[in-house]
Amino acid sequence: MSWLSQPKIYDHRVHETDIASDEKLAMILDRYPAELLDINAYSYDAEGQVSLATGERGRADGATLLAAIKAGQVWVNLRDAHEAYPELWAHIQPNFDAIAADLGVKPIKVTGQLIMSSPQTKVPYHFDAAGVVLFHLRGVKKLWVYPTDEAHQPQTSVEKVIMRVQAEELPYRMAFDEDAEVVELQPGQALTWPLYAPHRVENQGVFNVSLSLDFQTWETRLMRGAHYANGVLRRYGMTPAAMEKTPAAARAALWAASLAMKKANLAPNLIKDYERSFELAEQAKKAA
Ligand SMILES: [Fe+2]
Repeated sequence: MSWLSQPKIYDHRVHETDIASDEKLAMILDRYPAELLDINAYSYDAEGQVSLATGERGRADGATLLAAIKAGQVWVNLRDAHEAYPELWAHIQPNFDAIAADLGVKPIKVTGQLIMSSPQTKVPYHFDAAGVVLFHLRGVKKLWVYPTDEAHQPQTSVEKVIMRVQAEELPYRMAFDEDAEVVELQPGQALTWPLYAPHRVENQGVFNVSLSLDFQTWETRLMRGAHYANGVLRRYGMTPAAMEKTPAAARAALWAASLAMKKANLAPNLIKDYERSFELAEQAKKAA
């Protein structure tokens, strides 16, 4: 039920522009709307289990923020870059159009996040309930992409993530790494993977900049709605069928049910904004 069965790399030349230069990044950080800027710090224990703290920019200007990202251990996400950073998007859009044509997908909604991350940052095991193309612009990162089977991605966890009663993390065990495809991503490469494939990321000791593009098609929208409806049904004691055994017509019916369920507020979104517990420039000072 996906357009790919393995991760796939495309080439692009967006990194040859000055769009991800220090100067441009400081400028965009300076003027980016605070409500679209996420600052995340992950920490990991010996078994690879993760905890998350989120921060806010405080009063720091763009250049100070950029220096703090380079010196810290954070991952900064500039959401809605497709609208808030049109100069970048003018470079990304034609590349994505070519990739979508090659994959044979017809996107109905596309969003972008510009991600700046510290040299040692790791993003934990998770999946995205959308198609993703990761355009890499600066630095080097390693990605592990895992199979989409029940062992690596239990359907009940997928439902909880989609209902947003659990953050976008799946149960992870280090032994899963043996089953992963591993890709070392360089500037000028764009990576995409099978729909819903779990993945995790480790920066390779250098400051990283990427543009992560999410896209929905009718297929992904129906699947997301079907998972949502199944999650609600499961909460009421029913046992839904496995998604790969749910035919398209049944998915469409479940999706329609999910719209009604959302209206009836049957699974309120329990993940409000995390409490923003540190200020980035302060954290960088401590780390220095
Ligand atoms: Fe992701």
